Amino acid sequence: MPDSQENTVSRRYGIPLSALSTSQIDGIRRIPRHQDARPPSLLERRSVEIFLSDEYWKLEKARIFRAKPVVVAPSALLPEPGMVVAQDGYGIPLLITRDKAGKIHLFLNACTHKGAALVDDCAARKWSTISCPYHAWAFGLDGRLIGVPRAESYANFDKTTRPLTRLPSQESGGLIWGILDPHAEADFSIVDDQIAVDFQHLGLPNWHLYGQRRFNLDANWKLVMEPFLEGYHVQRLHVNSIGPQGMDMFADVVGVADRFGLHTRQTSGRGNYKPEVLDDPQINIRNFVTHAYNLFPNTVVITSPYYTSVMIIMPVDAAHTRVDYYMLTETAPDNPKAEELYARSFTIIQDVFGNEDFKASELCHRGLASGAVPDVIYCGMEAAIPQFYEGIEGVLRAESQS
Ligand code: FES
Ligand SMILES: [Fe+2]
Repeated sequence: MPDSQENTVSRRYGIPLSALSTSQIDGIRRIPRHQDARPPSLLERRSVEIFLSDEYWKLEKARIFRAKPVVVAPSALLPEPGMVVAQDGYGIPLLITRDKAGKIHLFLNACTHKGAALVDDCAARKWSTISCPYHAWAFGLDGRLIGVPRAESYANFDKTTRPLTRLPSQESGGLIWGILDPHAEADFSIVDDQIAVDFQHLGLPNWHLYGQRRFNLDANWKLVMEPFLEGYHVQRLHVNSIGPQGMDMFADVVGVADRFGLHTRQTSGRGNYKPEVLDDPQINIRNFVTHAYNLFPNTVVITSPYYTSVMIIMPVDAAHTRVDYYMLTETAPDNPKAEELYARSFTIIQDVFGNEDFKASELCHRGLASGAVPDVIYCGMEAAIPQFYEGIEGVLRAESQS
């Protein structure tokens, strides 16, 4: 993005350092000057089996993706009361609603008459009720069955016995979390409060959904997560786009990593970062610092100067992954210049993530599947990756003992 245009928009929409959470400010103040930044020296290993094995994926599915909270959508997908959207990315038909009072509900997207999908695509819509396309049973956005055509033809039928099948859900910090098992206990304790506080300070609960796109990838979901946990590749994989031969936005340094429960926050100084910029209360801090959150297990939130990327990385099986990418902006574009800039950013970010990061994940999966190496090794520039895997391994172990 040419700097002059970027600054025009970010001056208008920017966030000063003081608007961030105490924890975020503390993280930013710990970013060293680029020339003083030293990555730790380490060599960590993970067996290729964690990426290739169907057995390992089955464990992850049972003990994490069907047992623990996962993000199903950003709040911005349903910005107003009275909205409905389907989410099919997890291989379970989900229906997310925001009722008239603004409360989020998560259901199986299946009619309780004979199971027909109630919503057949993933577009968000404003509806006051949900009507099944088959025999037109009607449900409230709170899941109650409220209308049955020719109800007199059912003998002894009590409508209250056939509400939509509810899944545990919670909305916090601008994200909607769900547990994808209708029988699961509604335990959202791993959704760390600090994450929600940080996201409130980033404005996520009120931001506008500018655009979204689904990617279907031939790679294990963790290989898709990896590039968002390290800065090692940025100057190299992205050399011609956002790297040194392109927009040259970033420095070749490792970010300040903080862990909140199983989640990771990486705070990185962009190429133009110097500690002195923090003395100016007028700056848009997002011009100088990037936040990348890796939310356990499969969601990435990354800040740019005037937009935020949310990615939900949903495994299909051990070798295939769907990614829902959402670009959020502070407001809807209200002038042609902002529209042009957002549109161009949306194109660029899809290109960088899609044709570079996601492509690299697919290339790795193919190479690992060839048997080229018995394990993957990680250096100090990638230290957050094995840390993230320790979180996954801890949950897999704890569940096997319980
Ligand atoms: S399957 Fe939905 S009304 Fe019959
Ligand atoms: Fe990248």
